[in-house]
Amino acid sequence: MGRIAYVNGSYLPHNEATVHIEDRGYQFGDGVYEVCEIHRGALIDEGRHLARLKRSLSELQIAMPLAEGALPIVLREVMRRNRIKDGYLYLQVTRGVAPREHCFPAPSVRPSLVVTTRAIDPNKGTTLAAAGIAVASMPDIRWKRPDIKTIGLLPNVLARQAAKERGAQEAWLVDAEGMVTEGAASNAWIVNSENVIITHQIDNTILSGVTRATLLDLIAAEGLRIEERRFSLAEAKAAREAFVTGATSLVMPVVTIDGTPVGNGHPGLLAQRLRVLFHNVAKRSS
Ligand code: PDD
Repeated sequence: MGRIAYVNGSYLPHNEATVHIEDRGYQFGDGVYEVCEIHRGALIDEGRHLARLKRSLSELQIAMPLAEGALPIVLREVMRRNRIKDGYLYLQVTRGVAPREHCFPAPSVRPSLVVTTRAIDPNKGTTLAAAGIAVASMPDIRWKRPDIKTIGLLPNVLARQAAKERGAQEAWLVDAEGMVTEGAASNAWIVNSENVIITHQIDNTILSGVTRATLLDLIAAEGLRIEERRFSLAEAKAAREAFVTGATSLVMPVVTIDGTPVGNGHPGLLAQRLRVLFHNVAKRSS
């Protein structure tokens, strides 16, 4: 069975699913997206993803592409048509199609909506987590609003590619003051020698990760110590543990930073435990 995508009201085979050449997403990166985990047939943390989508759209003054209530129905229909059990759902909304002109189209046009799914073998993530990943630090050269989940991901793409060329699976973005903001496609965490878990506070310099928010719920439920604050690359290299979170990585232990082993160079115990417990607290909707 081929993959089915939703594009502006139609369910189509992938190779027939197209958007217009003057879509503002294509020309200006003028749009936003969400990536949502699908676990054992259920969408994970759909409520938080849709709330963030709404916020991203509102920051860019793009209208919701469908009436309230219709979007969850479309998401489920794409999942059903693809018979997906484990993987990801990708949702993208752009400002729509208009002759190329920087200012917003006036009168406004209908936003474009694309929804796709991708099946992933969940054992792949488990195997990767058992080994842990390497991260490479890169300067954070993004614009000043990475809190908006825009499709304009060029700095993230370049950082991830540069990390790959150094044998690492993720890039950690470092600001002008030597502080780690987040990963190219994940939030960054460390655990210090007193077992305090540390992650960047929510502000305009990072994306407010859905996995991050759910992990904070789990950390609170487990009574673990947490500090939401900035940490430096030097502090990370001296940490007992490090890990990243994201819809595609869940909780993924980091075992080296720029080639320096983190702790004993093996996946941290806390990170491993949080990974195992994650789906107990994440909200499932099917
Ligand atoms: N990225 N920070 C950045 C820059 C991200 O791109 C992502 C997610 C996260 C984690 O957010 P969440 O927990 O809501 O997935 C943090 C997705 C997975 C992507 O671009 O593929």
